[in-house]
Amino acid sequence: MCGIVGYIGDKRAQPILFNCLKRLEYRGYDSCGIAVAVSNIEVYKDVLRVEALDKTSPRFDGTIGVGHTRWATHGGPSKLNAHPHLDCTASIAVVHNGVITNFQELRHQLTREGHNFVSETDTEVIPHLIEKYYHGDLEKAVEAALNDIEGSYAIIVLKSGEAGLIAARKDSPLIVGIGDRENYIASDVPAILDYTDRVIYLEDGDIGVVTGRDVKVKKAGTDVTRAEHKVMWTVEEAQKAGYEHFMLKEIHEQPRVIRNTLGEYSRSTESVIDLPAMREGGIESILMIACGTSYHAVLIGKYIVEELLGIPVRVELASEFNYYSHTLARTIAIAVTQSGETADTLKAMRKLSEVGCRVVAITNVVGSTASRIASQTIYTRAGPEISVAATKSFVAQLMVLYWIAMAYSKTDARRIAGLLMELRQLPSRVQQVLDEEAKIMKFAQYLSRFENVFYIGRGINYPVALEGALKLKEISYIHAEGCASGELKHGPFALLGVDTPVIAVVARDSTYEAMLTNIKEIKARGSPVMALAEEGDEIIEELADSVITVPQVDTLFSPVVNVVALQLLAYYAAKERGCSIDFPRNLAKSVTVE
Ligand code: G6P
Repeated sequence: MCGIVGYIGDKRAQPILFNCLKRLEYRGYDSCGIAVAVSNIEVYKDVLRVEALDKTSPRFDGTIGVGHTRWATHGGPSKLNAHPHLDCTASIAVVHNGVITNFQELRHQLTREGHNFVSETDTEVIPHLIEKYYHGDLEKAVEAALNDIEGSYAIIVLKSGEAGLIAARKDSPLIVGIGDRENYIASDVPAILDYTDRVIYLEDGDIGVVTGRDVKVKKAGTDVTRAEHKVMWTVEEAQKAGYEHFMLKEIHEQPRVIRNTLGEYSRSTESVIDLPAMREGGIESILMIACGTSYHAVLIGKYIVEELLGIPVRVELASEFNYYSHTLARTIAIAVTQSGETADTLKAMRKLSEVGCRVVAITNVVGSTASRIASQTIYTRAGPEISVAATKSFVAQLMVLYWIAMAYSKTDARRIAGLLMELRQLPSRVQQVLDEEAKIMKFAQYLSRFENVFYIGRGINYPVALEGALKLKEISYIHAEGCASGELKHGPFALLGVDTPVIAVVARDSTYEAMLTNIKEIKARGSPVMALAEEGDEIIEELADSVITVPQVDTLFSPVVNVVALQLLAYYAAKERGCSIDFPRNLAKSVTVE
């Protein structure tokens, strides 16, 4: 949560900082601010989105500066709580992403020592600590301040009169972008794609001194070398490309994302995903952990892997997993995280690694913390996902899970060959769903009038119902609940009626007859039923009040076509209600706090 950025070079820092912050808004957007070193430090911050702050900001001419876009943790969104934060002399400015857990005792201590605090944030202790320890050497002062701090941080420190910015991280991401006689520091790669494709990924415990000419990194007081990497993502991928919202663009990118992710891991019919732990044998169970939409991907992964590998799969929400002990013998763990920075998922990964469990990460972000903790990383090739609501990354995660299951499956070869053929057809099947956009939009406009909606599914499409409901609630603010169809009568039935539509995800698999019965039961209670069903399903056409059709695919792949239709449904419902689709209220894409 929160995006931070720094610039140092020959150009005016202010427009660059604002431009980078616009690309970091997916990390938080309740307030933002910049600080630029002129003769002293000029700060401008407010409870505004970056574009608005940019428009109202006075002009600063300095060539060194820092910026921040916030997702409030300590203290609500306000001008005083917005970053950058300053020390008493207003010569040290700090932007911070993370949480300082011992800030209260530090604050009391510093107050006793005469420091004056103006915000409610945990961050404000950092500039004051640096001020306390500064005796002519900024790097040493930052190091001493960080020694006092417990918690997580990615920080950038700007001090007037200094020729460099200081960057440091622990448990929050931070990269340095290398330019030509200028350098950038940012929470994430998309922030700096307009300027450079050369990056250094800082590691936990690193303290970097970044000037316009070079980058020096130290860890525990010793110089270390951090390799420079070329970024695979392009500027175009991080732009809207004519779409009104990133979410719509990202939904439409899915046929390509499927091709890219499959292309990455397949040569002809051979999978090139090599999981040594699986190859070596002796694995008796798989543990999958994730949060949010990625959790729905692993719920689907359970069905895929259990069917094709015949190995029991346990699925855990990372945020729950972290608080009790587990039996993990002969278990391989798979952690799925788009950003590779979700605090709960990282905590679970660390916990698993500590007890000797092999952890495979499936992530979309090269160099992310998840990729550093994992013993092996498999990258999805979704490209940068900017919209807070995950879409294409979910489908890319499923692709990797299909590949893993197919690569190590002992199921009969004909079934696998058939699945492989279908898998290659999936991009065009998804395109068929996208071609139904106008029709789905009409359904969405109808749906947007309601305040409560149920999504139901069975079997592999139960997690699809959960994901459909999550998409709708997070971007349209309509209360939506995903429910296993069989569970409706154990409580949710009490809420059904004419004002509560039910969206039924219907696959013609072993769950079909039971789904038909459930739909009849729902209709008997007066709720309008909107079905998502395979083309040619005449029974559903007669039974449901309205039907969105999707192409026929093997049941194992039905979550892919179904979820794309539900993404469009949520998108257009939110659009009809005039919501802030890419940046929903109170949310952030990268959840770096527990
Ligand atoms: C946030 C995002 C979701 C995402 C979840 C998990 O809540 O808004 O879109 O699914 O975090 O993120 P991860 O990066 O671990 O997949």
